[in-house]
Amino acid sequence: MSQRTCLSVILAAGEGTRMKSALPKVLHQIAGLPMVAHVVKAAETAGAGDQVLVIGHGAEEMRKAAAKFAPDAETFVQEKRLGTAHAVLAAREAISRGYDDVLVMFGDTPLIDPGALTVARLKLAEGAAVVVIGFRTPNPTGYGRLIEKGGKLVAIREEKDCSDEEKKITFCNGGLMAVAGGRALKLLDAVGNKNAKGEYYLTDIVGIASGQGLDVVATEASFENALGINNRAELAQAEGIWQQRRRHEAMLSGVTLIAPETVFFSHDTEIGADTIVEPNVWFGLGVKIATGARIHAFSHIEGATIASNCDVGPFARLRPGADLKQKAKVGNFCEVKQATIEEGAKVNHLTYIGDARVGAGANIGAGTITCNYDGYSKFFTDIGEGAFVGSNSALVAPITIGKGGYIASGSVITEDVPDDALAFGRARQKTIPGKGKELRERFASAAAAKKK
Ligand code: UD1
Ligand code: CA
Repeated sequence: MSQRTCLSVILAAGEGTRMKSALPKVLHQIAGLPMVAHVVKAAETAGAGDQVLVIGHGAEEMRKAAAKFAPDAETFVQEKRLGTAHAVLAAREAISRGYDDVLVMFGDTPLIDPGALTVARLKLAEGAAVVVIGFRTPNPTGYGRLIEKGGKLVAIREEKDCSDEEKKITFCNGGLMAVAGGRALKLLDAVGNKNAKGEYYLTDIVGIASGQGLDVVATEASFENALGINNRAELAQAEGIWQQRRRHEAMLSGVTLIAPETVFFSHDTEIGADTIVEPNVWFGLGVKIATGARIHAFSHIEGATIASNCDVGPFARLRPGADLKQKAKVGNFCEVKQATIEEGAKVNHLTYIGDARVGAGANIGAGTITCNYDGYSKFFTDIGEGAFVGSNSALVAPITIGKGGYIASGSVITEDVPDDALAFGRARQKTIPGKGKELRERFASAAAAKKK
């Protein structure tokens, strides 16, 4: 089958009014990726060498977004939304180039399984003209029904055009279709709009092909494949299903999730075997974790690289550019941004490390802050190997602390500290014997005088 050429046509011209959003519906995200991009990915996995997006509503925004998630896809604009067949025909130019297989997909069904698409393509390879990917549901309301006669698919009837008897059918159109490329345009051009909605229905090509004695096939896939997102409740449902799949995959690949239902992944999260993730952890975009790390509860991680055997959290926040080398530790209530924590370094308590390097084996005391921003620009802090920064220190960048440098706690460090030096950046302590007692007596008699 790999020799067969394949074009995917993804329909995404709709407005999605029920999302109640300024953003085009299909750009709403599942696992940090626009839902239409999930569809593009699935098509690619199923072997669609060329991809087309049919856009309309919010075309400019769609083009901009597509340039990122599908830079090789062509876009065609459907000026007026006259139905799904009309939408596919907006890509006439691409279809007429002649492909063996044409996959028609909807931009708002992000959970499609590439395997279901592959099965449909196999049916085309066996000689089918049209393959419909169906699903069964006890609640078929709103879906086109698959009408079979003598075990053969003969038509798809849209809900609004169904008789009461047909409405009882529970085998539905998931919205995914595979069409023999050589026949696609002829079939689509034969579609009319005499139906309840006055639209050109893609689904009509089934009746047309069947009437011509062509082989029309229905395959069955799970409900998720067809889960169309129309509102934010369905968006959350799809997110939930996606997360469930991903957690399962992570666990089977050797990651321990103590409370899987509380851990959230992004579409691009990479996480190595023998990593243990405690409850309530969020992985935003761009996270890479090697093997054997431990991510403690309530950590929020995005854009971070975590090497093997690191220890993160609880309650750690790793922001983009955080780069933890082997066995580094970032503990509770610490934030790390655009900074490298070298091998074995420890940033354990209540600390902000931004635009910095913490050298191997260095120890950063509780409450240390890199002062990296003057309100206009960001500056770098370089902390040498084996340095020790005492608690509650402020390191005012740009600044360098040399290898083995030692910072007294409570310091405000504004000048570079050479290797192995000790730096104090605070007032010297003054101790006055007996003065505490004297003060106490004075304050007590003042208070007693007031009461009288
Ligand atoms: C469609 C199917 C129905 C199926 C259901 C599965 C048709 C006629 N009906 O119904 O059989 O059970 O999906 O979810 O195909 N679009 C355009 N341009 C248009 C019209 C639609 O781009 O002119 C896009 C929409 O943005 C959407 C997709 O096509 O992504 C599906 O259109 P929609 O109106 O939601 O079809 P359904 O009524 O859900
Ligand atoms: Ca729909």
